[in-house]
Amino acid sequence: MNDIKIAILGLGYVGLPLARLFATKYPVVGFDINQERIDELRKGHDSTLEVEDDILQGVLKDSPKIETGLFCSNQLADIADCNYYIVTVPTPVDSTNRPILTPLYKASETVGQVLKKGDTVIYESTVYPGVTEDECIPVLEKQSGLIYNKDFFAGYSPERINPGDKEHTVEKILKVTSGSTPEVGKKVDALYASVITAGTHLAPTIKVAEAAKVIENSQRDINIAFVNELAKIFNLMGIDTHDVLEAAGTKWNFLPFKPGLVGGHCIGVDPYYLAQKAQEFGYHPEIILAGRRMNDTMGKYVSSEVIKLMVQRDIKIKGSSILVLGITFKENCPDVRNTKAVDVINNLKSYGTNVTIYDPWASAKQVEHEYQMKVTKDVPTEKFDAIVLTVAHNEFLEMELKSLLKPEGILYDVKGILKKDVDGRL
Ligand SMILES: NC(=O)c1ccc[n+]([C@@H]2O[C@H](COP(=O)([O-])OP(=O)(O)OC[C@H]3O[C@@H](n4cnc5c(N)ncnc54)[C@H](O)[C@@H]3O)[C@@H](O)[C@H]2O)c1
Repeated sequence: MNDIKIAILGLGYVGLPLARLFATKYPVVGFDINQERIDELRKGHDSTLEVEDDILQGVLKDSPKIETGLFCSNQLADIADCNYYIVTVPTPVDSTNRPILTPLYKASETVGQVLKKGDTVIYESTVYPGVTEDECIPVLEKQSGLIYNKDFFAGYSPERINPGDKEHTVEKILKVTSGSTPEVGKKVDALYASVITAGTHLAPTIKVAEAAKVIENSQRDINIAFVNELAKIFNLMGIDTHDVLEAAGTKWNFLPFKPGLVGGHCIGVDPYYLAQKAQEFGYHPEIILAGRRMNDTMGKYVSSEVIKLMVQRDIKIKGSSILVLGITFKENCPDVRNTKAVDVINNLKSYGTNVTIYDPWASAKQVEHEYQMKVTKDVPTEKFDAIVLTVAHNEFLEMELKSLLKPEGILYDVKGILKKDVDGRL
């Protein structure tokens, strides 16, 4: 494994932890188009909180001429002498849930400008089967003038990390790998195996590896949609869904999913990638899209349940005060992308309520920028007509929530973490 120099394009939730890990063994140049991101990383700080500052600072270098370590840059020249290019840029959907491949095309154009004979380009972004070979490789060939699988090679290795999860960090998660030829597959696999302590699984083709990732998240989405449907049914019947799940969960093969809001950059998005490709092949996915429909409507459902409970207590809705606990898409992490807490908030506001959002993790600046909403990091002191716990941040477990409620106030627990002493839970 001599003479390896790695460029990682896209230093976000996925790219930075991977760059840090490879930097413990190889020279790595982290490349990102976002100047602000490069500036903060060069100062040794990661605002996504995925890599702790002292760990980041331990590998940071101030020049690309290195034996091991991480140099961060937005200059093409700094990645020109690399021989492995790993692409970890975003793969979002548009307002009609169609895949946006622009960041992948752009990153491929960038790599194509510096691609040399013998280089290998590995994609990690979550995609539908075929994106690497049918969409990205043509861009690399066109931009570089080189020929695929003769002059340069490719691989696909999906990322499985989970933002905010300090236990399942990148090196501790078994990694699926693949290559554009059997030999390249072995090379790509060996590269990852040299740093991933949990081991690797070499998939037979790039398309298999792409499909494996997109179905992992689709399976999760569908399972959560099923328990969300159960929650709607049992709420109508006056049965506590969490009690039902606890009882059913005593069977050895009952899957332990919980109802909730499904947001973020992955589970709420990736099934649309698979669905889109299936439709291009003339198949209309029923289960996958039914799962998406169910999960995408849960924010509205939660808010209407809260309003119903308030009406039952004779609380005047218009002008009432509601505290929403948490706006990130998941617990104990600052990621607010595609968060469905926003659906709860917008729907509550549509009834004329005044909503206060408390989140000790979210960046107020980012929330303002993305959702035009104000979020506070100061624990509220006034009393509210309703409190809706939307995210299971540890801090909320330590709060005396009832002391923040007016005498008839409603406490609604979307995450089911407050046990029984609540007025409603999903
Ligand atoms: N966030 C997760 O937990 C997670 C887990 C598994 C897989 N994924 C997948 O990994 C991919 C990346 O996700 P993420 O969460 O790290 O995204 P992110 O938004 O946190 O980071 C992406 C980075 O790429 C940069 N970028 C965008 N276009 C670029 C370009 N042309 N050249 C160089 N840099 C560019 C952005 O500035 C940003 O810093 C996505 O496909 C996502 O679905 C994410």
